[in-house]
Amino acid sequence: MGIVYNEKCRTLTLQTRNTSYQMKIGNLDYLLHLYYGPSVCDADMSYQIRQYDRGFSGNPYESRNERTFSLDAQPQEFSTQQQGDFRTSSIEVVNSDGSYSFHGKVTDYQIQKGKYRLDTLPTVFAREKDTVDTLQITLTDQISKVQVILLYSVFEEADIITRAVRVVNEGTASIRLKKIMSVCLDFLNGLHMDLVSLPGRYGQERQVERQHMTHHIHTIGSVRGSSSHQQNPFVILCDRDATEDHGNCYGFSLMYSGNFLAEAELDQYDQLRLVMGIHPKQFDYELKPQEIFEGPEAVMAFSRDGFTGLSHLYHDFYRTNLCASKYVTEIQRPVLINSWEAAFMDFDDVKLLEIAKAARKMGVDLLVMDDGWFGKREDDNSSLGDWVVNKDKIRCGLDHLVEEINKLGMKFGIWFEPEMVSEDSDLYRAHPEWTMEIPGRRAVRSRNQMALDMSRKEVQDYLITSINQILDNANIFYVKWDINRSLADIWSNVLPAERQGEVYHRYILGLYRVMDGIIKTHPDILFEGCSGGGGRYDPAMLHYYPQYWVSDNNHPIDRLKLHYGTSFVYPVSTMGAHISDSGKLVPLRTKAVVAMCGTFGYELDATHLTEEEQKLCKEQSELFQKYYPLIFKGDYYRLTNPFEPGNMTAWQHVSKDRNEALLSVVVTNLTCNGPQEYIRAKGLIPDVMYSVNGSKEAHSGSALMNAGIPIEREVPEYTAFQFHLKKQEQTVNA
Ligand code: DGJ
Repeated sequence: MGIVYNEKCRTLTLQTRNTSYQMKIGNLDYLLHLYYGPSVCDADMSYQIRQYDRGFSGNPYESRNERTFSLDAQPQEFSTQQQGDFRTSSIEVVNSDGSYSFHGKVTDYQIQKGKYRLDTLPTVFAREKDTVDTLQITLTDQISKVQVILLYSVFEEADIITRAVRVVNEGTASIRLKKIMSVCLDFLNGLHMDLVSLPGRYGQERQVERQHMTHHIHTIGSVRGSSSHQQNPFVILCDRDATEDHGNCYGFSLMYSGNFLAEAELDQYDQLRLVMGIHPKQFDYELKPQEIFEGPEAVMAFSRDGFTGLSHLYHDFYRTNLCASKYVTEIQRPVLINSWEAAFMDFDDVKLLEIAKAARKMGVDLLVMDDGWFGKREDDNSSLGDWVVNKDKIRCGLDHLVEEINKLGMKFGIWFEPEMVSEDSDLYRAHPEWTMEIPGRRAVRSRNQMALDMSRKEVQDYLITSINQILDNANIFYVKWDINRSLADIWSNVLPAERQGEVYHRYILGLYRVMDGIIKTHPDILFEGCSGGGGRYDPAMLHYYPQYWVSDNNHPIDRLKLHYGTSFVYPVSTMGAHISDSGKLVPLRTKAVVAMCGTFGYELDATHLTEEEQKLCKEQSELFQKYYPLIFKGDYYRLTNPFEPGNMTAWQHVSKDRNEALLSVVVTNLTCNGPQEYIRAKGLIPDVMYSVNGSKEAHSGSALMNAGIPIEREVPEYTAFQFHLKKQEQTVNA
């Protein structure tokens, strides 16, 4: 059993293959956090806690003259409010009498087999073969009768623990929730820990930053209405000396696509607290008696094997337990060509067919018609919301165009931006009240578009019906689901003034309902997420889409950093990566090698390529198909850090049985008369001989990992190398 209650010491221990997590129903029934890290056998880890009389740290009334028990200095499982703990709180409630207070004490716990579910939000799931147990602990405030139910599922083999939270108003009057975190994790000493996050911007998403914990609250979050380009709902807390291959690393990944917050606080006693959940900015949620609020799920992992160890845990888990689409595991994904950078909105049916015909010669299986096919859209000033085919552009009709593409032996894909509306659209003219606009004010435009009020049921129903109508009336194989602005003017015309603080979250709930109504009802369609590139690349989105467009920045050298940062938590199989015209000095083959660190495809006008280029592309498409199992199912290793000075960026995919590997290198900087450089492989079997690129040359895993592979230096700028390593029958000493 992955969860054990020890009656004698009142501890609850969550056990995965390699980790233990322990909490204790402690003094006065407060729930204390005792441990998270490598597996330990002790039933009670509370011996670590020392209590002192700490000046200015309050003591609960019930502890009377006992001045050493203070919640300000105790490690807590879910930090509460106004109880003498002045560190960052996990919850803020305004009770019906106007008081700000929640005193939660344990009133119940239950251990069950299987994975919990949330009624309103996406979660990871357990497969039949997974051993998963769930713990549910109830903290009750005896005065307000508000309950906080903490949910934990323990995925034993995967070394993953998920957490979520439910707030239930068991009182007789309404309360208001102002803050509710999904995770609270206290460390008894965090002075020598670092915080790693994935900040970025449009075109440069998920760059990696690492900072030492100092005595203040480090906050990472988004208030843009989406998980955003600027931050990602994923953080790592690690030892100061943790590296790619060694050291303790804790990962926290939040399954939420809206505003989020992670706070890491190093307190006066060097204790560290990490909380993570929905961002409290403009969050004010009314809960009437008996109503329930669910906070999003957080996926936690621990590895003592550095960032690589942690990434592997997330990659393996997110590849199998996050998205139920058959394209995740069962069906090989096609090589696609997307019309965006080929033609932007300047295309018609004839142009698309020309691109498709040229692309077919390049080994492309799928043509994607991007933005510009609907309403009267010629530029980004009109038609969002009018999901009807523009007959001036697609004169032959969508179904006929798809048939023509299918006749070429190719599949067809289409683009939508469901959440948005243009002022110049039939939808806006018919339903201006469906747009998020504060009465009496003109809404902020971004790309000259506005956001629909996704919290409204009519809006959700309209989108489900109009988009499904397109999908059901032509042989559509693929959908790219885009969103191209951050939210402002947060307002819903159907909510009263005092409930406008619910709109940010209700928008996200509405979005998930629309995604359920379109994506889950079309299991045969391959969906790709996009947000002006990779602006909403989060696990909740990846619950719906098997793949996500990493960035609008297709420059292959920038992509090295984009793929590197994204790979800290998200598997390569989710990363949309294409060859485009961007990067004029970079050879086509190098672009292909970079795009093979993802779903591989093209983002260019195939009719402009020479026959020789088309032939090269065909070879690359075939190579991608050949290496697909290795890239999509193998272990991914970052071999160099492109943010550090160096002349090469390298990465590697290794099959699970370690019999085969693909090691890729891009020379990013040529130094005149420079030294010979070597790339060391990882993850191979030391005493096995591996052939290199099918030649007679073979080296042992130990040589390849310790001495490395010499990288030819007399090469043109931005040359790429791929080394395909394959296990030989020959033994090391033969
Ligand atoms: C932003 C996306 O990232 C692009 O790939 C393209 O789909 C445009 N939107 C279309 O408007």
